[in-house]
Amino acid sequence: MSNAVSEVLLLMGPPGAGKGTQAQRLAEGRGLTKLSTGDLLRDHVRRGTQLGTEAKVLMDQGVLVPDEIIMGMVKSELDKQDPVRVLLDGFPRTTGQADALEELLGEYGAQVDQAIELVVDEDELVRRLVSRAAQEGRSDDNEETIRTRMKVYRDQTAPLLEYYGAKGKLSSIDGVGTLDEVTERLQDALSAEAQ
Ligand code: AP5
Ligand code: MG
Repeated sequence: MSNAVSEVLLLMGPPGAGKGTQAQRLAEGRGLTKLSTGDLLRDHVRRGTQLGTEAKVLMDQGVLVPDEIIMGMVKSELDKQDPVRVLLDGFPRTTGQADALEELLGEYGAQVDQAIELVVDEDELVRRLVSRAAQEGRSDDNEETIRTRMKVYRDQTAPLLEYYGAKGKLSSIDGVGTLDEVTERLQDALSAEAQ
């Protein structure tokens, strides 16, 4: 292993909260690799792999892809890193994934350093996703699937906020504002934690 230190940050929040947008900005600024399980899955769908074909059915319904598939993808990405320096976007999404992540990071001598939640009210989330549907046509950005994604977030992913909160690793920030305002809040939350 090299001498550089590992760093693992999580960006959490409901669909449309700005995880992908902010992960991109933050990762560049801190020399981290952005690792988005949604992007990895969409790449499989584009390439027409078997995993992509199976995942597409679930993604189009707005439900989660099984933990085993997700962990396999994440492991092969982390295997490329030494030390592990990643910003995780949209992962973990279940307590099973969070436990498996902790175990996996342990093998690399790393741990989750901090989780940040982007807080955005549901009306604004729907506005953003409907507007993205018009611009980009992501196949899960339709009203019915958006509703399912929100419910899945509340039922299966929101409990992770307590999981990381109980470990003293969670900060929640206001995700409404300009992109620069939100980036600045994220940076403040990260530097506050480092002190
Ligand atoms: P995933 O790709 O992770 O999608 P998501 O969580 O539903 O979230 P989005 O990507 O839609 O939103 P975001 O928070 O990244 O916001 P963004 O920056 O894009 O997952 C998709 C599917 O894959 C899941 O449903 C599941 O099936 C599967 N999957 C993925 N990971 C999985 C896992 N770990 N386990 C199991 N299944 C998994 O911003 C949204 C829009 O708002 C954009 O148009 C953006 O330009 C705009 N915007 C951003 N910030 C602002 C702002 N401050 N003001 C105004 N507009 C803004
Ligand atoms: Mg995203």
